[in-house]
Amino acid sequence: MPNIILLGPPGAGKGTQAKRLVDTRGMVQLSTGDMLREAKTSGTEMGRRVAEVMERGQLVTDDIVIGLIEEKFAQGAKGGFIFDGFPRTLKQADALAEMLARNGQALDAAIEMQVDDAALVARITGRTTCGNCGSVYHDVTHPTKVPGVCDACGSHDLRRRADDTEEALKTRLMEYYKKTSPLIGYYYAKGQLTGVDGLAEVDAVAAAIAKVLDKA
Ligand code: AP5
Repeated sequence: MPNIILLGPPGAGKGTQAKRLVDTRGMVQLSTGDMLREAKTSGTEMGRRVAEVMERGQLVTDDIVIGLIEEKFAQGAKGGFIFDGFPRTLKQADALAEMLARNGQALDAAIEMQVDDAALVARITGRTTCGNCGSVYHDVTHPTKVPGVCDACGSHDLRRRADDTEEALKTRLMEYYKKTSPLIGYYYAKGQLTGVDGLAEVDAVAAAIAKVLDKA
């Protein structure tokens, strides 16, 4: 039962690959981005503050995010967990290591999805996500078969994210380089880092991740 982290900047393809692993290996995706988007709709004061921070492209505070992860982790996963977009700071990474150790579990790999920043603007600004099942599409590279209809569930609720603007992407990238990229050195030093070419075709990226998992 492997536990892995998908690490990479906005648009690297973390969500796309995590969904594949859920379908092919029965792993459980823990996406802090998805959890926070859900919290945004709760109508609470916390939800309102989270929405503002996310729309600007900044990181939500460590305590909120760690609390969300702890809650979901406690529900267990027979096929292992995919940490998607978590951890994003050294404090979150330490909290994850501690949570796994406390539960007699380990991290099998931190997979760095290596991409070129220039590709990210096109990926982010062309993305739509199904509001019903979470499937991810792209206007050019992965359009739905029938325009406006989700291939997976037939829903017409295809959405663009409020933070998927060029403006917010600049802040998101800055946050990534300032606060998240130090984790590459952190996991390298622990002997847990593996890089995959995130610019390859979706199937090729999936095959590279499968190789890492088969060795875990
Ligand atoms: P989050 O939802 O985690 O967003 P992100 O990290 O910015 O990543 P994205 O979801 O934008 O991209 P992705 O890597 O999943 O790419 P995708 O597969 O969709 O976080 C959002 C916000 O929440 C943060 O800014 C922050 O405010 C907050 N937050 C979340 N976690 C937090 C934490 N731990 N701490 C603090 N704050 C936190 O792909 C993108 C597009 O590219 C799609 O259209 C897809 O079809 C296409 N694509 C994917 N792979 C390929 C490929 N190989 N080739 C061509 N196109 C591809």
